[in-house]
Amino acid sequence: MPNAVFLGTGHFVPDCVVTNEELAELMDTSDEWIQQRTGIQQRRFVDFDKEPMGASDLGTRAARNALDAAGMSTDHVDCIIYATLSPDKAFPGDGVLVQAKLDIPAGVPAFDIRNQCSGFLYGLQMANAFIRQGVYNNVLLIGSEVHSSGLEFADRGREVSVIFGDGGAAAVLGASDDNERGVLGVTLHADGRFAEVLETSCPSSALNPRVTKEMLDTGAQYPRMQGKLVFKNAVQRMPEAVSKVLAEHDVEPKDIKLLIPHQANLRISEMVQRRLGLRDDQVFNNIQKYGNTTAASIPLALDEAVKEGRLQKGDLLVLTAFGAGFTWGAALVRW
Ligand code: COA
Repeated sequence: MPNAVFLGTGHFVPDCVVTNEELAELMDTSDEWIQQRTGIQQRRFVDFDKEPMGASDLGTRAARNALDAAGMSTDHVDCIIYATLSPDKAFPGDGVLVQAKLDIPAGVPAFDIRNQCSGFLYGLQMANAFIRQGVYNNVLLIGSEVHSSGLEFADRGREVSVIFGDGGAAAVLGASDDNERGVLGVTLHADGRFAEVLETSCPSSALNPRVTKEMLDTGAQYPRMQGKLVFKNAVQRMPEAVSKVLAEHDVEPKDIKLLIPHQANLRISEMVQRRLGLRDDQVFNNIQKYGNTTAASIPLALDEAVKEGRLQKGDLLVLTAFGAGFTWGAALVRW
């Protein structure tokens, strides 16, 4: 049975840097509040006046960079898995849009998955299973988000709008006969009883019409979150999932070269690190620069870690995520 190895990673973020001070001009917040609670210093937003872009555009450029890093042409991609909560359109999904924009041959399947901040890990589990079973050889796995056009930059939305940023990132996974390397295991979980704790409720197929002016006036088109409850569950579920995947493979936390937690909040990452007993050099964070980019956050951090030389062949890498749904999980990879 072949192993699924990472052949290349890449990312793309818009040029436009938005600082906490700039957000403080739009609503009652401050650099101090944002940095103290979240560690975020800035994020990237699409500049819709200069160069409008959807999540599929960011995902396309990220995928191109990942394919280049893998030294692979689009002809070799035999499956696309695309994770986002901010697709360009209600349908069709961004997977086929990326396929067309990259000129990936007609006939190649494109999956769209909706697992929010856990989207990349859910996609990784799929890619791993496909490759190990010999269904597909080279899977292009993309996580991409444009949040900035869907946030409420006013006092009512401030708890949510200060934490999210735009970005796309991707990885190419391929079949390898090297049984020492690759994805060793993925553990995934969900608990739909918490679905309303973090959600955007409108437009909705459960409503007719799906959106009205009255709904828009109440801000139902914007994400709403019970921040403290999300925080509490995130710092419990991510260490739990990491401990599970490590135990399944007889790995101790001290043996991990790098943990990349989903970049939700630097305070969450720090608490996950403490609960797992990891040193600072074992954990990679870049939320300070990008905010929470949801499905893009893990591959964006992974790509930066790779470019900074933080992973060498044979190193043990752990990825973990928690997000809306709730959904969460962890993956263990031998790089
Ligand atoms: N700027 C200033 N004040 C803000 C604010 C902002 N952007 N957002 C909310 N506040 C205010 C609230 O209105 C509240 O005021 P009140 O006490 O007068 O009612 C107060 O700040 C809340 O402060 P606190 O209780 O200390 O906030 P917190 O420690 O819970 O931090 C979050 C808020 C959002 C940073 C935190 O709950 C969090 O990170 N949760 C997880 C979010 C997350 O990761 N979501 C994505 C999941 S993948």
